[in-house]
Amino acid sequence: RRRVRTHTLQQMKERHEKWTMLTSYDQYSAQIFDEAGVQVLLVGDSAANNVYGYESSLPVSVDELLPLVRAVSRSAKYAFVLADLPFGSYQGSPEQAYDTAVRFMKDGHAHGVKLEGGAEMVPQIRRLVDGGVPVCAHIGFTPQSEHTLGGYRIQGRGDAAKKTIDDALAVQEAGAFAVVMEMVPGDVATEITSTLRIPTIGIGAGAGTDAQVLVWQDMMGLNAGRLPRFVKTYADLRTTMLDAARAYVADVEGGSFPGEEHTFQG
Ligand code: KIV
Ligand code: NA
Repeated sequence: RRRVRTHTLQQMKERHEKWTMLTSYDQYSAQIFDEAGVQVLLVGDSAANNVYGYESSLPVSVDELLPLVRAVSRSAKYAFVLADLPFGSYQGSPEQAYDTAVRFMKDGHAHGVKLEGGAEMVPQIRRLVDGGVPVCAHIGFTPQSEHTLGGYRIQGRGDAAKKTIDDALAVQEAGAFAVVMEMVPGDVATEITSTLRIPTIGIGAGAGTDAQVLVWQDMMGLNAGRLPRFVKTYADLRTTMLDAARAYVADVEGGSFPGEEHTFQG
């Protein structure tokens, strides 16, 4: 196996081979998903919810995300490591976007960055690409704009499909190497995927995209909260960990751990 590059993902689209992205925020998840063959590890700003315990992705800072990006980059041998630019760290201007992206590339050792927005982010995307930073765009429902969009809802239904299609074309034209589409009707996502040259990555966008992405704590059953309909649960890690922690508590309280075999003799 060789390191995944943006051209690898592009070639896979051209060969009609599906590929995957999962979030990752630490060493073991990065090692495991890398070994499983996941092509892209996203250090998402969803670390806000899944690592730091915030209620939304809005509060998380560059300083909080950077060490997570560095941990994932150190741990992934093959995967492309994509760092999310958090809210407020790139919307201000193309220069602000570039300065933030450089921190993720230099200090975080990321291989590229992701930012939210379509046509309105074209100046930022151009600036980053011109400055040597691979950019993945993110359109449809964009969680950082939750309060502008009026909560978690499907984007691009009916008459709004045109805006989603225009956003996809705009980010491709600006130089993005791929685009995430979140909570977009399946037929719209399929049409965009066949129109675009660059790969599309769906989350709640049906089976017609070139790739899929999920938050790992959602799809492995660590998150005990209500999950969106587009998540498929592949494991029940919460129960596994709860059982293990309870067994440990019971063993220590009951005197059966540590045993002879765990004890050094003098
Ligand atoms: O932060 C994140 O996890 C994301 C994915 C859901 C695409 O942006
Ligand atoms: Na994100």
